[in-house]
Amino acid sequence: MKHTRVVVTRYGGPDALRVVEEECPEPKRGEVRVKVLAAGVSLPDVMMREGIHPETPPLPFTPGWDVVGAVDRLGDGVSGIAPGQIVAALPISGGYAELICLPERELVPVPPGLDPAEAVSLVLNYVTAYQMLHRSAKVTRGQRALIHGAAGGVGTALLQLGRLAGLELYGTCSARGAPTVADLGAVPIDYQELDFVKEIQRLTGEGVDVVFDSLGGSNIWRSRRALRAGGRVVAYGLTGSLRGGRLASGREGRRRRFRPIAVFGLYIAGSWLLPGRRRVVPYSIQWLKRLRPAFFREDLIALLELLRQRKIQPLIARRFPLAEARQAQELLGAGGVTGKIVLVRGGSQA
Ligand SMILES: NC(=O)c1ccc[n+]([C@@H]2O[C@H](COP(=O)([O-])OP(=O)(O)OC[C@H]3O[C@@H](n4cnc5c(N)ncnc54)[C@H](OP(=O)(O)O)[C@@H]3O)[C@@H](O)[C@H]2O)c1
Repeated sequence: MKHTRVVVTRYGGPDALRVVEEECPEPKRGEVRVKVLAAGVSLPDVMMREGIHPETPPLPFTPGWDVVGAVDRLGDGVSGIAPGQIVAALPISGGYAELICLPERELVPVPPGLDPAEAVSLVLNYVTAYQMLHRSAKVTRGQRALIHGAAGGVGTALLQLGRLAGLELYGTCSARGAPTVADLGAVPIDYQELDFVKEIQRLTGEGVDVVFDSLGGSNIWRSRRALRAGGRVVAYGLTGSLRGGRLASGREGRRRRFRPIAVFGLYIAGSWLLPGRRRVVPYSIQWLKRLRPAFFREDLIALLELLRQRKIQPLIARRFPLAEARQAQELLGAGGVTGKIVLVRGGSQA
């Protein structure tokens, strides 16, 4: 039996993605084979294709941080799960495939009746947003938060969860994303027209309690200037390293995983050394999951329950079939996407 998966053949642009057909993988001892129903397409996938994400695997590899699927076959020694059960996982790579084999301990049960595309939006984007709000920033009702990239996948998750937490919200976005950001209860700030530091000072007087910075690099420093004394920047992304979905530096074709981490380190250390009680703290879903796997499971289960109760409503920007992964990444890289792009089994749907 054959299955299809998408492979990154070299570090570079969307043309580095190839669709291949090969023998179905067999689950090893302790593993479960999952039939992928929905796989998220996110900027970390694009950064791994370009070779700049800290988690970039050696070539060739299958991208795909987050999946929702149906249990298809059990490896030896697996007993706590039944074929047909819907599950979610964060494999970091491997999701752009019809079938993926994962250790049983990695699988989180998904309540019946949920749309797999909506459920997969929770695995990377909402867990990231939830953990940054409640485990890194430890926000309290009435605090002010600035969210960069507020119309994007993680940004819209931060807005919905920030609203549930009772925050006063501000979000940077391009003009295309402004109506969504306003609908989700935040004050949109057009990053292409306005200096967000000045705009935050103008709107709030003293600054915000927390900035969620997805851009990285020198933007972290500007985010720090938008804080009130005692506030913190949660730095979690490298969107600023990309332009049009390609490396902003114009360099090509190498695995460069450590430079962005070194830059992060400098800003974090600087923020603790300088006066002003304005700190920068890093957040990484994969590192928190490695250090505290119970948090990931607990938080994803809580979010799936919020989705079941329709207290959160993930925005699906577009659904593509697996074979159109390249077009999906091109769309994400082009910008102006509101919410999450998802690869779904068996076809496309807006
Ligand atoms: N640390 C972690 O654990 C973790 C987990 C998940 C994601 N991430 C990171 O989070 C970031 C966002 O990922 P995503 O999948 O949510 O991406 P996304 O859906 O593409 O969203 C990115 C958003 O950023 C906006 N943007 C681009 N340049 C901007 C600027 N200068 N100022 C303000 N907004 C700007 C884009 O708006 P326009 O397209 O309209 O320009 C877009 O809405 C990425 O850097 C990713 O690596 C980190």
